[in-house]
Amino acid sequence: SAATKAPAANATKEAKDITLGFSQVGAESGWRSANTKSIQDSAKEAGYTLKFSDAQQKQENQIKALRSFIQQKVDVISFSPVVESGWDTVLKEAKAAGIPVVLTDRAVDSKDTSLYVTFLGSDFVEEGRKAGKWLTEQYKDASEDVNIVELQGTTGSAPANDRMAGFAETIKDNPHLKVIASQTGDFTRAKGKEVMQAFLKANKKIDVLYAHNDDMALGAIQAIEAAGLKPGQDIKIISVDAVKDGMQAASEGKINFIVECNPLLGPQLMQVVKDVVDGKPVEARIVTEESTFTSDQAKEALPSRQY
Ligand code: AHR
Repeated sequence: SAATKAPAANATKEAKDITLGFSQVGAESGWRSANTKSIQDSAKEAGYTLKFSDAQQKQENQIKALRSFIQQKVDVISFSPVVESGWDTVLKEAKAAGIPVVLTDRAVDSKDTSLYVTFLGSDFVEEGRKAGKWLTEQYKDASEDVNIVELQGTTGSAPANDRMAGFAETIKDNPHLKVIASQTGDFTRAKGKEVMQAFLKANKKIDVLYAHNDDMALGAIQAIEAAGLKPGQDIKIISVDAVKDGMQAASEGKINFIVECNPLLGPQLMQVVKDVVDGKPVEARIVTEESTFTSDQAKEALPSRQY
């Protein structure tokens, strides 16, 4: 069908002869650690050789890693692009070398979609919409302005761009919902805390914090408590991911609403790698299934949370 892409068929390879080169974003968050573990465990389980490289949140490191995978003639390259733009050159090099590329977690904005086989990961715009819908519902009867501050993810990354857009789109119909400040916290706890401190200093009245991930929300909670305020009460908090520490804070009422982003992409990725190596058609877009958690739901789900 039009939704599938058929890569060139290879002679059938056994799992032990498959080498996957994976370039990871970094180790910026709890989500990322869970994602890395899922990929490493699943590659081991599948019996593939995994060449794993950590880019420390820098695109130049990722480009270097991809070039090194090309040189080593791995069977498949996979990566989670730090930012959306600037990939065409290196992706063309992979294509010229006949090495299929699978995007996981984050997308690229390349116009030429023949540069990669598929994109496996979340719908980040939808995540932003879920956050915005919850907030809109909470404040549907508001008669005064609701001041929102936003902690964005890494500048130029797909999750930061899309979570911002989905949120803005859903809150725009209520003129009382006002984003009064929006700045990057780089998806880390330390930056989340630092930027929240600055927000608190510069703004007298903050009603809501929308953080693009749990780690930044957790950092911000420290800043809010240090300022003598109660997170979840004086300032309502929405975040994305639903990692254990985030769910813990939600179950304590410090985070009011979490939109889930599933990091356990390893098993699906290994299946895609197998299909690509076998020359089978693969869906051009594979979207992860995700839910949301209020404080009460987080309390209930916490004991069985894997990550
Ligand atoms: O790309 C997914 C995002 O990256 C996660 O939501 C965030 O925690 C991570 O750093």
